[in-house]
Amino acid sequence: MSMSRTWPVWARTMVSRGIYSRPRTSQERLRRAVEGKTVLITGASQGIGRATASRLAAAGAQVVLTARNESNLRELEEEIRAAGGEAAAYPVDLSQPELIDEMVDKVLAKHAKVDILVNNAGHSIRRSIDLCYDRYHDFHRMTAVNYLGPVKLTLRLLPVMRAAGAGKIVNVSTFAIRTPPFPRWGGYHASKAAFDVWLRAIGPEIRADGVRICSVYMGMVDTAMTAHTPSLHRLPTLTVADAAGIVCDGAAGNRRALGPWWCAPLEAGSVFVGRPLDAVFSRLYQRSSDTDAARRAIL
Ligand SMILES: NC(=O)c1ccc[n+]([C@@H]2O[C@H](COP(=O)([O-])OP(=O)(O)OC[C@H]3O[C@@H](n4cnc5c(N)ncnc54)[C@H](OP(=O)(O)O)[C@@H]3O)[C@@H](O)[C@H]2O)c1
Repeated sequence: MSMSRTWPVWARTMVSRGIYSRPRTSQERLRRAVEGKTVLITGASQGIGRATASRLAAAGAQVVLTARNESNLRELEEEIRAAGGEAAAYPVDLSQPELIDEMVDKVLAKHAKVDILVNNAGHSIRRSIDLCYDRYHDFHRMTAVNYLGPVKLTLRLLPVMRAAGAGKIVNVSTFAIRTPPFPRWGGYHASKAAFDVWLRAIGPEIRADGVRICSVYMGMVDTAMTAHTPSLHRLPTLTVADAAGIVCDGAAGNRRALGPWWCAPLEAGSVFVGRPLDAVFSRLYQRSSDTDAARRAIL
């Protein structure tokens, strides 16, 4: 069993909140920000997206749940409704642009507009480059889910937000795109960085129409995404509830970016430590290995 998972919960929470960041928005403040609003959450079938949807619904938002796993979405829809909240599930595969169109048509027919888009769905792969030579399709599917799908969805929802004169796009990104790139994670980090850069570039274009963006540079979280990589389990991880709380900070607050406190100094410092860090990463790479899942290509 992983060290992270064997730590007492209080110790893990203290350490991970110190290293990453901790959620700050009270349920009351969240309620003031989202009550009565329509919030579309991608990747709501499990993990951070599911927990975020539950928290937003408990604060009075009408949550629109999307992901591929319909039974998980229906279960969450039921759970939220049973607790007195409002939820509607719209299964979709984000790698299929025409299915995104169909889904958005249905959502807008029912809800008229989406006030907040939480771009949370994601797919990650950790694999050495020498295991990737015949796996171009991996890069294609990560790009489809982490970059092109979210772009397509944003292109459909943005005009509606701008016409309404208000809106918010919260992007669940990763702290790792603000650090020097890690070996084995290139495809994932590149696809996450692509959407992050695109969204930040359009931010100033849409601001005058009342649409704001927030990039959440999430720390490590204990979810299905990290489950396949045992080496990550030795690191402190945020709980799913804390991660959802941070996404809700992004939805409720005015910050353009949220993330671990050390990202900014590390970004600035990486100009000077880039070379030595390359050497450190190369050493760490030699001393570590690909997981069974990566070798057997079940990711
Ligand atoms: N866990 C971490 O340590 C960590 C750290 C930094 C950032 N993040 C980011 O946090 C976000 C949520 O990750 P998580 O940890 O909660 O992972 P997760 O438990 O694996 O959830 C990923 C979600 O994305 C959805 N998804 C994947 N492929 C999809 C597709 N083709 N179409 C539609 N939905 C799709 C999945 O739903 P279906 O399978 O039902 O489609 C699932 O709901 C991701 O963007 C990830 O990059 C995670």
